[in-house]
Amino acid sequence: MSEERRKTYYITTPIYYPSGNMHIGHTYTTVAADTMTRFKKLTGYDAYMLTGTDEHGQKIERKAEENGVTPQQYVDKIVENTKELWKLMNVEYSDFIRTTDERHVKAVQKIFKQFYDQGDIYKSEYEGQYCTPCESFWTPTQLKEGKYCPDCGRPTETVREESYFFRMSKYQDWLIEYIQTHPDFIQPVSRANEMINNFLKPGLQDLCVSRTTTKWGIPVSFDPKHTVYVWIDALSNYITALGYTSDDTSLYERYWPANVHLVGKEIIRFHTIYWPIMLHALGLPLPKQIFGHGWLLFGNDKMSKSKGNIQYAQPIVQRYGADSLRYYLMREMPFGSDGNYTNEAFLTRMNADLCNDLGNLVSRTTAMIEKYFGGAVPAPDAYEDVDKALIDLAEALPNAVEKQMDALQFSQALTEIWKLVGECNKYIDVTQPWVLGKDESKKARLGTVMYVLAECVRFVAVLIGPFMPSTPERIYAQLGVTDGALKTWESLSAFGGLKAGTMVKKGEALYPRIDVAKESALLADEAEKWAAAFAAQSGNIKTPAETKAPEAPAKAEKNADKAKELPEGCIGIDDFAKCKMVVAKVCACERVKKSEKLLKFDLDIGTEHRTVLSGIAKFYAPEDLLGKSLILLKNLAPRKIMGNESQGMLLSAFVENPDGTETLRVLTVDEAMPAGAEVG
Ligand code: ME8
Ligand code: MG
Repeated sequence: MSEERRKTYYITTPIYYPSGNMHIGHTYTTVAADTMTRFKKLTGYDAYMLTGTDEHGQKIERKAEENGVTPQQYVDKIVENTKELWKLMNVEYSDFIRTTDERHVKAVQKIFKQFYDQGDIYKSEYEGQYCTPCESFWTPTQLKEGKYCPDCGRPTETVREESYFFRMSKYQDWLIEYIQTHPDFIQPVSRANEMINNFLKPGLQDLCVSRTTTKWGIPVSFDPKHTVYVWIDALSNYITALGYTSDDTSLYERYWPANVHLVGKEIIRFHTIYWPIMLHALGLPLPKQIFGHGWLLFGNDKMSKSKGNIQYAQPIVQRYGADSLRYYLMREMPFGSDGNYTNEAFLTRMNADLCNDLGNLVSRTTAMIEKYFGGAVPAPDAYEDVDKALIDLAEALPNAVEKQMDALQFSQALTEIWKLVGECNKYIDVTQPWVLGKDESKKARLGTVMYVLAECVRFVAVLIGPFMPSTPERIYAQLGVTDGALKTWESLSAFGGLKAGTMVKKGEALYPRIDVAKESALLADEAEKWAAAFAAQSGNIKTPAETKAPEAPAKAEKNADKAKELPEGCIGIDDFAKCKMVVAKVCACERVKKSEKLLKFDLDIGTEHRTVLSGIAKFYAPEDLLGKSLILLKNLAPRKIMGNESQGMLLSAFVENPDGTETLRVLTVDEAMPAGAEVG
């Protein structure tokens, strides 16, 4: 099909606040969008995925200030970490929009001006209750006990200022009618009723769309003491990224209206009320669908940057690869419902679905073809009923999967695929190839069984690609599939694409069995380290555990051969030699103003003095460490923490107290050791 005639598919994630590093909640939406994009590409669409960051506002301004950096520096660092995370997760977005991008700033200014010129926006005065961590105003009826934020439970502040307002009320009847006549517009459908009954029917209030108290925002072009306030800035990203109002609107022409905006359920309201009204006021078509998915809970609470109860993706992916986590996220909970993340549930599912079901099917199939047919896939003989049943299931599978995917039912799509996996494993038990293998007269029958299995495995490999992008190639390698045509959606239109004579090659287990108890303890430790490091992270500190920054998958693969020379989990002496550690004598030590965590050290390292900040103030008084000899990692890149440059890192260890709590101890050495002595 020619490029022009291919159907387009445009999908977006929310643009996330870079007020902290992204956790597996954000990873969830982003992986869902990537999975869908890959699926649409697989099925022949011209698919485009947008993600990005929502960088303005008071909260970011304050965060940056706390960390002694500018808001721009603060968000730049988080954005860098975010892009690294998406790479780690094997997310291939088409574009990443930042609301600080000039393209976005200019477009928002034009959009705002147009609203003002049309009379949709007017100037007035605002007084309201504002929750800074959540960046939300609340009406008196929404507040908990008249004062507290209904989202996070913290006290709100009364704020009064001159503001611009958007006349939402003008469009309310139109929107009710629109939602009622477009049943697919808001998904899950229960959300549509909620929007109509709880927000639209009671009457829309005009929306405050500018601030004079926040400097970190897009200036209103015709009244620059105002900055554009949150939702007009944020929501319009979905069209500014496509070049709307710019000189080149070709992407906009090609992809708008979006097929679907994926959002968490807490922001459905903004996407199904403010956004449609904004678009309608601009005379633009509405997105075809807003899908509000559920929350990943962590100990029954929504994981959230502002609450700090967080699980990050990095430690999980470092240990088990992106595909495992992607699979879990898409499989564990129906899209639209909440679900809990626990290490045990994750590891148990890996064992059951990936190791037992899928991994065993692939290894049993390839092992038996090697054993009985010298590794060459046999040609099938006549199909019996038991074969036909399996073949029918395989042939019906692409449609079944597509149907679930079009409804964004990722977990159902995987359930469909795993039905085939399960039936294949049963088929092995029923046909008993090991019995057939003992009887030379059953060779043709055995050949049929092996062919059916191998071809089913190929079907599975093609279908799981959007969910687990690295796994199909590992299966193809074992199955001997090299022909690109056999990796396509089209190749699933009829059973039998796999050529007889293809040489299989049993490889190592796709997903080795996991000791759940042991691994979940390890994972919990790793996760805690990342969480602690990210929590302590100011905008300009790179990653937690700098010594083990995650590798992007592509690079990890390239290095895989090299790494094979070392036992698993080991580093070479050269790697260790990169860490320059010396004995450091504490000449001075003081608390850092306005920080509960930080101590500032003046360290003598023999040849020079170093200033080092360390987050240990909760565990030591400054005088405790005066005169002590510690170990400093001296070639850690300097980083700025709360306005001070920290030139290295003191080694320390968490030790458990008898009551189960933990204390951090810095490593000390014999005071007779001279400052500057090299450790290693
Ligand atoms: O709301 N479970 O940004 P944000 C599932 N900037 N999904 C989660 C999640 C969890 N525990 N935590 C976060 C904003 N998410 C605005 C959006 S859009 C024009 C502006 C995902 O950083 C989910 O998609 O608070 C949620 O809607 C989004 O991250 C919120 O990210
Ligand atoms: Mg949020």
